[in-house]
Amino acid sequence: MPGISFDRAVDYYDATRGYPPGVAERLRDAIIAALELSRSAQILEAGVGTGRIAIPFIEAGYFYAGVDLSRRMMGQLRQKLDGRNQRVHLICGDVMHLPVVSSTFHAVVMVHVLHLVDDWRQVLNEAHRALRPGGALLLADDAHSDCDGAEYTPRTQVQRAWSAILDELNVPSDQRRDSAPHGLDERFQDHLQALGATVERTTLITYRQQPQTVRQVARRYQERMYSSCWILPDHIHAEATRRLQHWIDEQCPDPDTPRDAPARIDAMIARWT
Ligand SMILES: C[S@@+](CC[C@H](N)C(=O)[O-])C[C@H]1O[C@@H](n2cnc3c(N)ncnc32)[C@H](O)[C@@H]1O
Repeated sequence: MPGISFDRAVDYYDATRGYPPGVAERLRDAIIAALELSRSAQILEAGVGTGRIAIPFIEAGYFYAGVDLSRRMMGQLRQKLDGRNQRVHLICGDVMHLPVVSSTFHAVVMVHVLHLVDDWRQVLNEAHRALRPGGALLLADDAHSDCDGAEYTPRTQVQRAWSAILDELNVPSDQRRDSAPHGLDERFQDHLQALGATVERTTLITYRQQPQTVRQVARRYQERMYSSCWILPDHIHAEATRRLQHWIDEQCPDPDTPRDAPARIDAMIARWT
């Protein structure tokens, strides 16, 4: 497998990763402004999924191509569009070998994909190949950390607890996807610069997450809703689940109070002349 197909996540992806109302539209507008995209721009999203990022662009009439390993995720995207739009081109394929003609797109967008693929350098090379001269690649990442310096959010608390449990269980790095370069890793920037790009980092938008509790977030790890849990051997996942429950019952002071949190969407933008 060249990456991790999200076929198994299709039934809960939007419920667990979706943005609060209005955020995806603000994100689209921020991307358009950052990349100075005209109405006739042709955009490619590598790892398009169910269209969390794509749909506002498509609804605004942009030409949007999406590539994904998962037919089921893209099927969900198509269902949401309900045949209303013809300027969408969805291709089942591997982002390490983008099934597109070279020098076609004004912009390539990638959100939460590079940590899933076998060779992220090859994916960046492919994005560069797909771009026209003067085009730009935008990598975006949800920064769930506590932006305002407040105490940890439920999401961060659970992430830390889970990671500590995997450490205790001596889970090797090849069984925990969290060891792959994530988000806007420095190594992405170095590689893009080596490809001749000028790279800039920026915050696209800030918003408030939907309130959630520690117990709700923990359930997503316990029910294997995150890709980092999929490659854990069953017996390790079962033991980590038990220990996470123990942490909630014995150590977590307030597991049932919903808390919202500030969030940001950051971007790394690579431009070529
Ligand atoms: C976390 S989802 C992100 C989807 C979308 N970009 C978003 O932000 O909602 C990652 C997507 O990448 C796809 N994917 C993973 N490896 C891939 C590969 N090698 N080629 C194409 N798609 C891949 C998965 O099937 C999944 O739909």
